[in-house]
Amino acid sequence: MAYGDAKGYLPLREAIAEYLGAARAVRCEPSQILVTTGSQQGLQLSAQVLVDAQERVWIEEPGYPGARQALNMAGARLVPVPVDHEGLNVAEGIRRAPSAHAVYITPSHQYPLGVTMTATRRMLLLNWAARSGAWIIEDDYDSEYRLGGRPIASLQGLDTDARVIYVGTFSKVMFPALRLGYVVVPKDLLDAFSNARDAFDQFSSTLYQAVMTDFISEGHFARHIRRMRMLYVQRRRALVEAIHKRMGGKLEVIGAEAGMHLVALLPPGVSDVAISRRAAEIGISAMPLSSCYAKPPVRGGLILGYGGTDERQIQEGISKLAVSL
Ligand SMILES: Cc1ncc(COP(=O)(O)O)c(C=O)c1O
Repeated sequence: MAYGDAKGYLPLREAIAEYLGAARAVRCEPSQILVTTGSQQGLQLSAQVLVDAQERVWIEEPGYPGARQALNMAGARLVPVPVDHEGLNVAEGIRRAPSAHAVYITPSHQYPLGVTMTATRRMLLLNWAARSGAWIIEDDYDSEYRLGGRPIASLQGLDTDARVIYVGTFSKVMFPALRLGYVVVPKDLLDAFSNARDAFDQFSSTLYQAVMTDFISEGHFARHIRRMRMLYVQRRRALVEAIHKRMGGKLEVIGAEAGMHLVALLPPGVSDVAISRRAAEIGISAMPLSSCYAKPPVRGGLILGYGGTDERQIQEGISKLAVSL
């Protein structure tokens, strides 16, 4: 019940290091792990420690609004870099801002489009970072739930120059209200991250950290992931089928191979903000895809999450959405 370590509860840091090594090919020692209150704090810490005001940072276009917020708060100048079917277009990033100070990226499962970054692009990005001394902030928020294909190893595991800050969370694999996440930090940045963590809010609740440690070490975590993976496959299938059946002509599904959300593209010219507002009025949460863009996209869409929605609710929700569209 006393004050805890700003870096986190040591048994949890040990459990996370072991899990990340086995599941995500992350190469780290427990001393490099800092427990946070979710990835949002990991992003905030990274922005605070790594980026000074007016420094350029590449962000994915479209990308995660939470990352944009954290980087904006540090005064970064954001450089949107387009994402295509191979992930972040590294060559375009180099063209737009060759000496950028950092890059924010979701290579395993791009948020929101769901693309997995190819090996070629990963090597290009790591080579650019090593050459230019840029930092890579890797947000690996939901890799546990790959639904098809082989798991993709982290960028951190491929990095031989200690350029990658790996940000992870228990929000997706467990639940968001837990507010537990972690950052894997290169050794020479450990003190700076730990001091910033201490200055922010000292440390995460020891009670939740201890419970999470037991949950992992007693084998419940691995079982939970296996069970939920099957459940999410069923929910994803139910959602995709319901969309095809009820709105096949109007919505085009993309990015449904992993995670707990997919994107349903709307026909060109239809406002996703208006549809999202109408959906909220009938009790459906559907984030507009355009909210992830710095510049308005050619085609809008809806980001549909299925993590906390059972198959019956999915069917009902899509039927209601079909009527309002
Ligand atoms: C890209 C991305 N990163 C991180 C998170 C999780 O954030 P947090 O761990 O702060 O709950 C989310 C949640 O939706 C996300 O989409």
